[in-house]
Amino acid sequence: MQTVAVINYKGGVGKTTVAANLAGELAWRGHRILLIDLDPQASLTFSFVKPDYWETNLAKDKTIKAWFESFSSFIFPFRYNS
Ligand SMILES: Nc1ncnc2c1ncn2[C@@H]1O[C@H](COP(=O)(O)OP(=O)(O)OP(=O)(O)O)[C@@H](O)[C@H]1O
Ligand SMILES: [Mg+2]
Repeated sequence: MQTVAVINYKGGVGKTTVAANLAGELAWRGHRILLIDLDPQASLTFSFVKPDYWETNLAKDKTIKAWFESFSSFIFPFRYNS
């Protein structure tokens, strides 16, 4: 497995656009690609998923936040209110 990171300290310089298009091209060439969108802006997610599909099918429980919360009570038994 290879990991590619697209990094720049500046905002709005095309990090997400490069990540999305690089992933698209590599997938087109037959590679298996996993994109992980940890940015609350979710721009990478919305590069591939239409907002109405997101709202209907994914927003409720198909996010990294929901996944993390599914086991975080074992790691952080004394949860603080968020
Ligand atoms: N090669 C390009 N030519 C023209 N416009 C571009 C190019 N790459 C990205 N953009 C545009 O620039 C804007 C910022 O791009 P993008 O959201 O990918 O930047 P970012 O570095 O991920 O931003 P942020 O720091 O907010 O996450 C977007 O409107 C995008 O469509
Ligand atoms: Mg971005």
